[in-house]
Amino acid sequence: MKKRILTGDRPTGKLHLGHYVGSLANRVKLQEEYQSYIIIADVQALTTNFENPENLSRDTFQIAEDYLAAGLDPEISTIFIQSMIPEIHELTMYYSMFTSVNVLRHNPTVKTEAQQHGFSDMTYGFLGYPVSQAADISIFKANLVPVGDDQIPHIELARKIVRRFNDLYKPVLIEPEALIGEVPRLMGLDGKAKMSKSLNNAIYLSDSASEVESKVKDAVTDPARIRKTDLGHPEICTVYGYHQVFNRSEMEEIEHACRNGEIGCVQCKKKLAGCLNKLLEPMRERRIKYENQPELVKDILEEGSRKARLTAQETMREVRDAMRINYFAATE
Ligand code: TRP
Repeated sequence: MKKRILTGDRPTGKLHLGHYVGSLANRVKLQEEYQSYIIIADVQALTTNFENPENLSRDTFQIAEDYLAAGLDPEISTIFIQSMIPEIHELTMYYSMFTSVNVLRHNPTVKTEAQQHGFSDMTYGFLGYPVSQAADISIFKANLVPVGDDQIPHIELARKIVRRFNDLYKPVLIEPEALIGEVPRLMGLDGKAKMSKSLNNAIYLSDSASEVESKVKDAVTDPARIRKTDLGHPEICTVYGYHQVFNRSEMEEIEHACRNGEIGCVQCKKKLAGCLNKLLEPMRERRIKYENQPELVKDILEEGSRKARLTAQETMREVRDAMRINYFAATE
């Protein structure tokens, strides 16, 4: 039997290159080796978007399209919507009985997000979303969770919850492990912070070739370089940082040329835009098919949710059995 992957995202907007190198590339690479479940966490998105639930449907289809364009193959990966699996919420409730509020309050990712959103008080759902995430993962008995490094505290909690459940009742659940991408924190084009939608420093998987070119053209470089012959400092240059990730075969040559004033920033940026477009071009081609047939995306999500639910229901039977709350099960 193949081992399982469970991972996914909140549907809150378009996916960018940071998502790709942080986790999405791993998911695409591992989808044949593992049985893969990809969750579109619409309920988790409600933790911060509860005032605008009308955006969820658009954002869910958007992220599904990004997944399919990036190369997740719906024939082998099960892409599904969280709220279509009510068993996840059932399991979340059982987990919440033995999860400490203090432990949740100390979760560094929750704290950072609360600050970013300016929450002076946290809702019950927001504070508790890592419990629900533990249910997302463990209801599929996932062994591996490919995610960005901000998710590590959540995977740690999921491991603790699984251990506690197995100790308290019966060892039916699997302790998951996080798998962090090769580049856990891709810088934004501004060179100031991690790539993110809210900072307006991102290249999206759905950007056109000319959008990529113009964004790279405006990226921040080494301020000491005005003319091509000025000696460069690639270690502080955002564009060089991207060459290290997306253009490994030429990166040493570029570093050398930059240090010696033999390549100008304009040319260096052209090379980078070329590499990024080479990566994104097959995604653009795959995307066309789905953009032109929204019904196809709907069918994929519906079928994925149906399949995922069967797996979740199977685990819930074992969970209820372990907890001895399977009142009407046939007795032997
Ligand atoms: N917390 C993740 C994010 O913010 C989304 C998510 C929900 C998730 N459930 C998950 C990720 C389970 C991995 C596994 O993007």
